[in-house]
Amino acid sequence: MNDSIKEQIRELLKKHNAVLLAHNYMRDEVQEIADITGDSLGLSIEAAKTSADVIVFCGVHFMAESAAILSPGKKVLLPRPDAGCPMADMVTAEGLEDLKAKHPGVPVVTYVNSTAEVKAHSDICCTSANATKVVKSLPDPKIIFAPDRNLGRFVAKSVPEKEFIYWDGYCPTHERMTVEAVLAKKAQYPEALFICHPECAPEVTALADQACSTSAMYDYCRTSPARQFIIGTEAGILYRLRLENPDKEFILASPALFCPNMKLTSLEDVLHSLQTLTPVITVPEDIRLRAKQALDRMLAIPRD
Ligand code: 13P
Ligand code: SF4
Repeated sequence: MNDSIKEQIRELLKKHNAVLLAHNYMRDEVQEIADITGDSLGLSIEAAKTSADVIVFCGVHFMAESAAILSPGKKVLLPRPDAGCPMADMVTAEGLEDLKAKHPGVPVVTYVNSTAEVKAHSDICCTSANATKVVKSLPDPKIIFAPDRNLGRFVAKSVPEKEFIYWDGYCPTHERMTVEAVLAKKAQYPEALFICHPECAPEVTALADQACSTSAMYDYCRTSPARQFIIGTEAGILYRLRLENPDKEFILASPALFCPNMKLTSLEDVLHSLQTLTPVITVPEDIRLRAKQALDRMLAIPRD
C-alpha cells in the first residue's frame, strides 16, 4: 500500500517539477520519501535556492511560510495546513511592537519558529543552528529575543557581553521533558552521552553533553566515538540517527518528546497535496517583503 503511494508521489513530483522538503521531526515514511531532509535553517536555504516550480513542505506552517517568503515565484504546498507550531503562536506582531516601544532602538532577533507577520516586525531571524552567530553579528549591547525564552537563555550564556530581553514563549514538546526523566535515563545508561535541543528548559540543557540544532545532532552523533546517546529532542530525529549509525544506540530521553503537529502529515496527505496542488501557502506581499529582509539578513551570515 505504502509502496504504491510512494510511487505515485514520486511520479507527481517529477510531473510538476516539484521538490519534497521534510523536517527532521516528520514521520519516518515521510522522511524516507523526501528529496531533502533537514533542520529549519537547512530547509530555508534549500527553499531559497531550489530550481523546482513547486515546493512540497512537510513540516509546520511557519516553515512553509518561510519558503513562500524566500521563493515568491514558486508554489509552496503544505500538505497539512493545520500543522502549526504552538511556540510560533505565542507571539503576535502587536505584542512585539508593545515590547519594542518599551525598549526603543533595541533590535529584535526572532527565531524562525514565528509567523511571517512577526518576522516582518523583526530586525533579523535566527534558527537554533545559527542563533549565537546571529546575536554576535549585531553591534548593539542589548537585544530583544523572541519567541523562545529557552533558546534565548541558551544563547545568552555564550554572549555574556550583551543584555537580553526575552519574550516568554516556549516549545511545549521540549518543555515536557523533565530533569527527572533525563536523570532516570542517565542512571539506566551510565555510558551514554546526553544530547538535547536548546528549546529544552535551562535546567535540562545544563545536564547535556551537547545542546544543538537537529542537524548538528546528526554530525555530533556520527563523529562521536561514544556508542550510546540519550536524545533530548522530538522523536522523529531517531529515524535518521538510527539509519546513519546502525552500530550505535539511541535512546529517547522521554516519551513526552512527541510534537503532535509534526506528526500530522501522512503519505496520503502528501499524495493528495500533489494531486490537487493545494493547499498553497501565501504571504501578503507587504509582509513578505519585510519578513524577507529579516530572513535575508540571517542567510547572509556564513554557515559553519
Ligand atoms: P531545528 O530543526 O532548527 O533544530 O528546529 C527544531 C524545531 O523545533 C522545529 O520546529
Ligand atoms: Fe513547535 Fe516545538 Fe513542535 Fe517544533 S517541536 S513545531 S517548536 S511545538
